[in-house]
Amino acid sequence: MRQPIIAGNWKMNNTIKDTKALLTDLIPLVADSKAECVVCVPYTNIQTAGEMIKGTNIKLGAENVHWADKGAFTGEISADMLLELGVEYVIIGHSERRQYFGETDETVNKRVLQALKKGLKPIICVGESLEERESGVYKTLLEAQTEKALAGVTSDELDKVVIAYEPIWAIGTGKTATAQEANDTIAIIRNKVAELYCKNCAQNKLRIQYGGSMNPKNASELMAMPEIDGGLIGGASLKAEDFSKVVKY
Ligand code: 13P
Repeated sequence: MRQPIIAGNWKMNNTIKDTKALLTDLIPLVADSKAECVVCVPYTNIQTAGEMIKGTNIKLGAENVHWADKGAFTGEISADMLLELGVEYVIIGHSERRQYFGETDETVNKRVLQALKKGLKPIICVGESLEERESGVYKTLLEAQTEKALAGVTSDELDKVVIAYEPIWAIGTGKTATAQEANDTIAIIRNKVAELYCKNCAQNKLRIQYGGSMNPKNASELMAMPEIDGGLIGGASLKAEDFSKVVKY
């Protein structure tokens, strides 16, 4: 029922030249993928990437969006600017934004509501630190992050929402959550959404990805778990061959 979705988060990597080389290799490699395949690229590469993937099965994503339509917000990007370039998905609330750039549950929620209002599909990131995992507070923390991010989102909009569960301790560390851990934690998030909306909405509409050192070696085990609907891929999305192997897990 829930189509798998594998998205690359390029973060602050790749110039236009790198983008051309990477996508030239990637496009044929994922042409027959069954999973939905998305590349979330830096703003400066959106136009190039959009032109290159036109007519292919790769979808275009950005790495953030501001909550206002336009105005005096130096350094930010608006939904209309992204839509004009064919962007369909947008990552919101990545832990790196929360950790280094003052992103809060409240600003995440404002961005999510704006994305949906404008017709962009948010990939909302939630996740706990190692300390929060080990002390056991991660469950309530993830439930709170989920509830706050989705405040004001209607059940009709849930099929446009993707949640990415990314344990901070697994990002860029080579340390992955075990498939069972990832599955069980995603179930906590899905149960919260069932409680906030309805069981059917959480089961049939909402896709939840795992993210954190997902790579060609562990992708199939993670994707075999019933709760895991996809992956948000950092490091392994920067190499066409690795990313294509994850997409075709
Ligand atoms: P890595 O795959 O490099 O661990 O990054 C995960 C991530 O943060 C994706 O958003």
